Amino acid sequence: MARMTETRLDPPVLDQRLARDGGPPARTRPEPPMFPGGMEIGEEEVEAVTRVLRSKNVFRYYGVGDGPQEVATFEREFATHLGATHALAVNAGSSALICGLIGAGVGQGDEVIIPAYTWNATANAVLATGAIPVLAEVDDSLTLDPVDVAAKITPETKAVLPVHMRGAPAAMDALTAIARDHELALIEDVCQAAGATFNGKRLGTFGDAGAFSLQFNKILTTGEGGVLITNRDDVYDMAIDVHDCAGSVRRGIGLPQFPGYNFRASELQGAVARVQLGRLDGLLQRMRANQNWLAERVAELPGLTLRRGTDEGGDAGICLIAFAETAALAADAVDALKAEGVGAMRIYSPDFIDLHIYPYWKPVLDAIVRSGRPAPDCPRTLDLVGRAIHIDLSPLCDEQDLDELALAFSKVANGVLA
Ligand SMILES: Cc1ncc(COP(=O)(O)O)c(C=O)c1O
Repeated sequence: MARMTETRLDPPVLDQRLARDGGPPARTRPEPPMFPGGMEIGEEEVEAVTRVLRSKNVFRYYGVGDGPQEVATFEREFATHLGATHALAVNAGSSALICGLIGAGVGQGDEVIIPAYTWNATANAVLATGAIPVLAEVDDSLTLDPVDVAAKITPETKAVLPVHMRGAPAAMDALTAIARDHELALIEDVCQAAGATFNGKRLGTFGDAGAFSLQFNKILTTGEGGVLITNRDDVYDMAIDVHDCAGSVRRGIGLPQFPGYNFRASELQGAVARVQLGRLDGLLQRMRANQNWLAERVAELPGLTLRRGTDEGGDAGICLIAFAETAALAADAVDALKAEGVGAMRIYSPDFIDLHIYPYWKPVLDAIVRSGRPAPDCPRTLDLVGRAIHIDLSPLCDEQDLDELALAFSKVANGVLA
């Protein structure tokens, strides 16, 4: 029997019309959830929690039988993994910041320089020590601008507090030099960037202390939680007293040096944190690969400029941020990206309250003005975050997700921004 001649079909022409103009959306499925460590929770975490519950040792400092060991073991493992001398597990990233600041000698009457773009907890932690946060501009890396930091130093300045915002390392070479030259403490906020590096060295190990969060939205999670790391014995000793009002007595070294709080971590958190730590480098590898792949595609598009990396290889890879030329164009691009099914957002829009942006930090602004200082004014930061387009990049993104995201950015750049 003669074979039927095949009719050659022309390849389908991709419909490049924007979804909001009636074209097919680039995304064909929802964004994968962005809780990197949280979405990895599995049998290992279940086993860890069960082990603690079966032992009945749920408190870190005393118990029954062989006694508690999870938090203490996690602290040793975390310090070793990141290359620090000490780690102290606490109940939140905010607590880790407070412990680090007080441990490094920050208190009443001091000023601490922080970026104008960070979660409000950074500024609140400074206030909790009795010090006043001084807001400095971020640059196009969306991390602390070393030039503005130098300009904001006064005789009251006690510390500089860089925040590795959205997974990206701040310029630790310049900031370390400034802190050294002016004899300032350097405390890193690594809450959004666990495991990330600058010039191959883990963030959190550059200065006097580094603070991490283990809240659900972070790279590693125990639901809530935090860790302080430091290479300084005196910072560690003071942090123990700050986080536990009986810290010095427990260690048999006498009366506390500081009227401490209760920021302690439980054995349940310690056990889960140990499992999560084992997941860190695998998560970073996947997130960085996804971010690099998508960034290469977005870099070629018209009307978009990627956030500048201070160390491209060091970024944790949790997101992609690109600047449009104006805030209005960023708003239009986000609107078009959302219609394509992309979970895009503007970092700052005067239409909604977002506590990552300093104009919304009312208690902080009030405290600054009450102290007799002028209200903070960081126009460059507002311009940058106002033009920024942000998407989360879940480690669960697969090739199809990345292809669709690249297509969405290409359609929107060409259709809205070109
Ligand atoms: C930059 C930054 N600093 C500090 C914190 C505070 O961490 P926690 O919520 O664990 O207190 C967060 C948490 O979102 C953060 O993103």
